[in-house]
Amino acid sequence: MGILIRQGDVVTATDRYTGDIYVENGHVAALGRDLSAFRRAGDEVVEAGELLVFPGGIDAHTHMELPFMGTVSTDDFRDGTVAAALGGTTGIIDFAIPAKGDGLLDTLARWHEKANGRAVVDYAFHMAVVDWNERIRDEIPLVAERGVTSFKTFTAYKGVLGIDDGQLFSILRRVREAGGLVTVHAVNGDVLSVLAEEFVREGTTGPEYHYQTQPNCMEAEATHRSFALAGLARQGVYIVHMTCGESLDELRQARRAGLTAYGETCVQYALLDESLYHKPDFEGAKYVLSPPLRSRKDTEEVWRALADGTLSTVATDHCPFNFQGQKDRGRPPLADFRRIPNGLPGVEERMSLLYTYGVAAGRISLNRFVQLTSTNVARIFGLHPRKGTIAVGSDADLVLYDPRWEGTYSARRQASRCDTNVYEGWRQQGRVVHTIQRGRFLVRDGRFVGEEGGGRFIERPRFDPLQAQ
Ligand code: URP
Ligand code: ZN
Ligand code: ZN
Repeated sequence: MGILIRQGDVVTATDRYTGDIYVENGHVAALGRDLSAFRRAGDEVVEAGELLVFPGGIDAHTHMELPFMGTVSTDDFRDGTVAAALGGTTGIIDFAIPAKGDGLLDTLARWHEKANGRAVVDYAFHMAVVDWNERIRDEIPLVAERGVTSFKTFTAYKGVLGIDDGQLFSILRRVREAGGLVTVHAVNGDVLSVLAEEFVREGTTGPEYHYQTQPNCMEAEATHRSFALAGLARQGVYIVHMTCGESLDELRQARRAGLTAYGETCVQYALLDESLYHKPDFEGAKYVLSPPLRSRKDTEEVWRALADGTLSTVATDHCPFNFQGQKDRGRPPLADFRRIPNGLPGVEERMSLLYTYGVAAGRISLNRFVQLTSTNVARIFGLHPRKGTIAVGSDADLVLYDPRWEGTYSARRQASRCDTNVYEGWRQQGRVVHTIQRGRFLVRDGRFVGEEGGGRFIERPRFDPLQAQ
């Protein structure tokens, strides 16, 4: 059975037109001004009316069911991807993260077990490399052969997940040989640990000191260092969750110097700021994540970089923890911001937040919105043209969005299994009416109708900088 979407306001990374889309066997089969002639008995017809139709969102940065800082993020692959689908996201790239000493292939198998039969949207993985030794060296190409062609490194989280410069350089070279792309969580983990230790020793233990341990200059310094090492290794690099003017300037400079360099930000860095760490009753803990929220001026720098093309993608770093029983572990009597699990939710809100505060607010165009939420992610991570666009032959991953709807965000109404919505009470402009993946409805009239385990693992090819441009 096919689907005929009639007279949609179709938006891609480059175009906008009113027209029909005919979907057959999970793919976009035809695009045109009027495709009534394609309609067959049994086909579903969706009158798009004034709905926008854009490619399903792809969130390049999620952490479903992540064991982290002595606890586990609240959304598993089912709940987290139901939230994604309701928010218009049809693909996620989650991070398979080993503990130090674990093998990469074992870790990858564990992530497949968590996602297979549970995820409701399509998914891929990045492989984190948190050690450097013979075994890891040998396993990197084997991971790439299994369709996982991006590798994550942390210069943060010293002693837990963090690696040093020599290790990062070796990983960059090895991943290049294996045909992959390296992504970096770039901050100076050494300095951060010293500052954190000092604050706690002096009894300054509240959530606001988490922010003070991670100054902008230490994100910029590690970003600069990552580019320098990548240049020497003749390798491209993708910096995850960029937050401030100083590191965005490093990205601009690296690009000007001809490096294959990409920057990701997350919606929270465009919308939320460090004043939230001062909320009473320890509520500032809800906003503890790494890197931390920055100043209002930095949120403006992030918007500027989204509009001018410096940043390539907007992700979420979706890593929710409950306030009760997880975030509140850093409260007195054991008062210590280092005990607050780092991370917050966003996969459900990403698309509508960027629409409301980006497109509707006149900060970015609709085409740029599609680039940042879908097309650029697909291009950089080898999913394009199967995903990230609306083209004949591409997967029919489509979102029909009502831009006139108005409402607010609330934890009470969300699908994510988290007791917090960091956008509680914020205005929402527009909402997802239908989400379609490979020609199947995941969301119909705003309700989830998909199937547990309906999401597929997407194997990705070697990284190709020419495709990623
Ligand atoms: O605070 C964060 N970002 N938590 C998730 C892990 C990471 O660093 O991406
Ligand atoms: Zn990170
Ligand atoms: Zn992350």
